[in-house]
This record gives sequence, structure tokens and C-alpha cells, in this order.
Amino acid sequence: MPRYAALFENHPKVQRMFTPAITGTGVFTPSQTITNAELVAAFNAYADKTNADNAEAIAAGKIEPLAHSSEEFILKASGIEQRYVMDKSGVLDPEVMHPLLRQRADDEPSIMAEMALDAAKKALAQAGKSAADVDAVICAASNMERAYPALAIEIQELLGIEGFAFDMNVACSSATFGIQAAADMVRSGSIRAALVVNPEICSGHLEWRDRDCHFIFGDVATATLIERSEDATGAYFEILSTRCATSFSNNIRNNNGYLRRSRPDGVEDRRDMQFMQNGRKVFKEVLPMVSQHIAEHMEAEGVANTDLKRLWLHQANKTMNDFIGKKVLGRTPEAGEQPNILQDYANTSSAGSIIAFSKYSADLAAGDLGLICSFGAGYSVGSVILRRVA
Ligand code: COA
Repeated sequence: MPRYAALFENHPKVQRMFTPAITGTGVFTPSQTITNAELVAAFNAYADKTNADNAEAIAAGKIEPLAHSSEEFILKASGIEQRYVMDKSGVLDPEVMHPLLRQRADDEPSIMAEMALDAAKKALAQAGKSAADVDAVICAASNMERAYPALAIEIQELLGIEGFAFDMNVACSSATFGIQAAADMVRSGSIRAALVVNPEICSGHLEWRDRDCHFIFGDVATATLIERSEDATGAYFEILSTRCATSFSNNIRNNNGYLRRSRPDGVEDRRDMQFMQNGRKVFKEVLPMVSQHIAEHMEAEGVANTDLKRLWLHQANKTMNDFIGKKVLGRTPEAGEQPNILQDYANTSSAGSIIAFSKYSADLAAGDLGLICSFGAGYSVGSVILRRVA
């Protein structure tokens, strides 16, 4: 035994492990919505205008005209009916086609922090806890609105939390990766409680001028409080196990970044500075990856598909979720077993599975098992197996 090991042999922290639990969640939903009808009308006006502006080049066969978008296609291909956004005026203006968000002064709360704060307060209230009970904040999201200081540290400051905070980005899987990081810290005893917050302003990186993807995303923020189960004051979900996996792919990519200025075409308005995906390939490659990931995670933990009462999946596409639900349960899920929120919120990146969990988990009975799974760019996939404790 190494000499230092003897020193810690009887240290209480080394001896003791804790059971991590989700004791509260919160959702911040923006006040503005865009229906498919509004979205398609704005896109089609933009397409007509662009085609008129480029009439000569189109007539000469130099460029392809932009085709119209359609409500029927969007609903059939994705299941999305509307999305919430932080600003609809810019998105729906054919002259603008992106959100217009006021520049805030450095001494004002940033917009992501403000959204996360609302969700975090709701999560704390549900758990019956205050900032004094929390030791760490993880801001886990697909994008951070600035390079530094970390958004998480600003959120920590706004909430009045002592301890530490950091940002992490695993795209759509950020929430489950954040939950794993927090659960591991709680389990080891290094902290008592952590808030994982997921503010997503997806409207900021969506290319609203591309009909292939303009319907995909919406804005939201979610928060999850992870504590020692022994500190829970009401019903909670014990975190039985977490599992994360990644495998590199360029099929969902955004080339914006801090080196942009240094490149030959500098800050030009290039298509690859916004969200890009090869949707068909993502569909084909991510589905087997996720189904296998969940199956292996459940098998490793001795959880049979007949044991699972609920699946809270990443909210990107209804057909994808139907497929995964059927694979995991070995049958078509009953109504309510695999709740979707994407029809109202669209894809909200890392927050989607947490919205579903937050809205559709309170009815589970003590002892019921459920699984949260998020997946997306990277590729990345994260799953969390939970047991309801009354
Ligand atoms: N309105 C009308 N037609 C449209 C359209 C629109 N808004 N967007 C695309 N189309 C057309 C395409 O041009 C194509 O026409 P073609 O057959 O003549 O070439 C046809 O509809 C089918 O397009 P396709 O892109 O193959 O549709 P799809 O069935 O794959 O659905 C997605 C597109 C994006 C909904 C789907 O691929 C998907 O959800 N993929 C996974 C997305 C995902 O999970 N991403 C993770 C992001 S975090």
C-alpha cells in the first residue's frame, strides 16, 4: 500500500459514498411562439424576394431558385407544430431572418444567464432548497453567448451560490453529460448538490434562410438540481446509473468560432457559420447508435425493458423517437410512456429531454424506473436511469 494511502484509510470522506438524486427541475419557456404557418409564410416571402433579386442569374442558369417551404412537409418530416423563441420579429422579417436581441451592457445579466436563472429558481423551489444548499453550477449547453467569463459563474453569482461553476458543451447531449458530472461529484462526496442548467438560444445559430432546416429549433432553458438522496425533502428520483458515449462525426457541424477573424474570408456571412446538418445521415447513423447505447446501458444495470415505466428522449424528431421507443421497449410505446414535447417546443437541443422529464414525471409511483436519453452532434449520447422514490 502506498504510504499516503494509509493516511486516508480511515478518513470519513474516503469511506463514504452518497446516492445522487434529482430533487427538482425547472423550465423557462420564452413568451413568443412561431407557428409553422408563420414560419413558412416568412420563409416563402424571403425566397420570393431573393429569387426576384437574382432573376437574371437564375434565368442564366447560374444559380438555382429557392424553393418554397411547406407546413405539410414540416409536420410530416419532424412532428413539430410550433417553437418558442426569444425574438420572433427578426426571424419573421424577410429582410432579417434571424433573432434581434439587444446588446446588453457588461454589468447587466446576460440573456443566457437570465433564462437559466428562471429555470434554476423553479428547480430549487420544487426541491424546497435555496442557493445556500448548492455547491456547484454547471452550464451545459450547445452554445455559450461569449467566450469568457464562464456563463455558469455568472449564474452562480446571480443566484448567490458559494462554491464553483463551469461551462460545458456536448451539443444536444449536454444535459445528460452535465447530470453525469454532477451525479459523480455528489456520489463521491466532493459536493452536496449541483445545479445543471441548459439555456439554449437555438434561434441564434439556426439558418432560418435554409428550408431544409429552418423549422428545426426553438429556444428554452432547463435546470436540474442533483443532491444527495439523504438531503431530499420530498419525492425525488434516485440516479441509479449514468452512461455517456461519443463518436466523431461531421454530419452536424457549425464552423463559427474564435478563429473566424483570422481566416482569409474573415467575418463573411458564410453558410457554415450557422447550424449545418446532413439530416438523412444523422437519422440513419444516430438511431442505431442510440438504440444500442440504451440497450447496453440497461443490460449492464440489469434493467429489463419490462421494468421501464417511462422514456424521456431527446426531442429532435417524432419518427426518430417512435423508432427508439419501439426498439427500447420491444413494442410500440403506450400513450404517455414516451412523452414528446417537440410538437410545442421543436428541437431545443440539450434541454429537450429535460423538458419532457420535468413535465411528465410527477405521476410515477414509488419504485418506478425511467430513463432520460439525449443525443446529437458529436455524435454524442447520454443516458440516465432513474428510480422514483416517494
Ligand atoms: N418544405 C418542403 N420540402 C422540403 C423542406 C421544406 N421545409 N425541406 C426539405 N424539403 C424537401 C427536400 O428538398 C427533399 O426534396 P427532394 O426529395 O426533391 O430532394 C425532400 O423534401 C426530403 O428532404 P429530406 O431532407 O430528405 O427530409 P427528411 O425526411 O430527411 O427530413 C429532417 C428532414 C431534418 C426532419 C430529418 O432528416 C431529421 O430529423 N434528421 C435528424 C435530425 C436530427 O436529429 N438532428 C439533430 C440536430 S441536433
